[in-house]
Amino acid sequence: MNLAAKMNVELARVASLPERDAKCLPGYFYTSPEYFAYEVDAVLSKEWHYVGRADEVPHPGDYFTTTLLGEPLLVVRGDDGIIRVLSNVCRHRGMPLAEGSGSTRRFVCSYHAWSYNCDGVLANAPRMRDKGVTSATCRLPEFRSETWQGFIYVNLDDNAVPLTPRLAQLQSLLENYRPLEMHIVHVAEEEWRTNWKCLVENFMEAYHLSVVHPETLHPYTPTGLSRKSMSDDAFTSYCANYPSDIPSRGRGASGLTAEERQRSTLFCLFPTQVASQAASLLVSFALKPIAADRIQVRWTMSTYGDDLTNHEIEERIALWNEVNREDREKLEKMQRALGSRHAPCGPLAPTDYEGTIWDFYRYLARKTEPPPL
Ligand code: FES
Ligand SMILES: [Fe+2]
Repeated sequence: MNLAAKMNVELARVASLPERDAKCLPGYFYTSPEYFAYEVDAVLSKEWHYVGRADEVPHPGDYFTTTLLGEPLLVVRGDDGIIRVLSNVCRHRGMPLAEGSGSTRRFVCSYHAWSYNCDGVLANAPRMRDKGVTSATCRLPEFRSETWQGFIYVNLDDNAVPLTPRLAQLQSLLENYRPLEMHIVHVAEEEWRTNWKCLVENFMEAYHLSVVHPETLHPYTPTGLSRKSMSDDAFTSYCANYPSDIPSRGRGASGLTAEERQRSTLFCLFPTQVASQAASLLVSFALKPIAADRIQVRWTMSTYGDDLTNHEIEERIALWNEVNREDREKLEKMQRALGSRHAPCGPLAPTDYEGTIWDFYRYLARKTEPPPL
């Protein structure tokens, strides 16, 4: 039995424990390069990944670039208004066609000037007329993508099962917040030296909130008020409830209940999107694994209507930067310790605090295959 198969037996064993006995996965699940390569091949390259918000590309020709599992991607709105995720690799000799974000009528390769329309079809290839390179024969490959509630998702697997039909329950959790009506105010990208699963688990557990974030989050979302919320095969979630005596943080959509206004709902759409949805603020992270101990994090912030002034938006961006710094410091230290021969398989905290991690393990176990006994 190879290493990944052995580890999957262990994963299946941990994931099958009753919730009251739930435990952490052994440290080598987070540090092994071989297991990371297996995860990319068996899980990540077949799953749907959040890449950005639709209103980052509001008009035809608007685009941004990103990289997912080594694939350079070009997310672009075509002249027909459709958002496509294209290969950002020129069909001549492989130069990336665009960097960063912007708006254009055509993508012109910086190397030999082949050019492509916004739907990926070749527009022109200088001096190639006799080589059979035409708009009929040459276009940028397109990846599977779906847009849901303003989130753009991509899947590198052409045979993937569609995502959106599986999101009915998550939809019911979020719909009053009207995420589709929120508008983007900030995009940032950074690299963290941690395993991708550690960041999923960290974002999705409330147990650390009051310890790691005593000044930034604890006053609004203390550990003790957090409650596990809905989950199914596609996602898990918890509600970070605010104390009743704190001032309003914006009204949000008119259909929100009083309880929904008084909390942030944190969810993970498996495997790599984690997000916090509140009345006036939506913060969503695209986790892009690079290696067992490295991850690229692209995060977006959106706000509802004109709930927040520019000054308040700047304050929220600063707050999230500080929260991210606090989490990152802890996760990068922990990553260095998880390779220890004494890395623990400690117990998970009760459902309201770490039950989401148990959901995540069960998702991972569903997506990996232990060999038959
Ligand atoms: S690599 Fe793009 S035109 Fe040559
Ligand atoms: Fe945190």
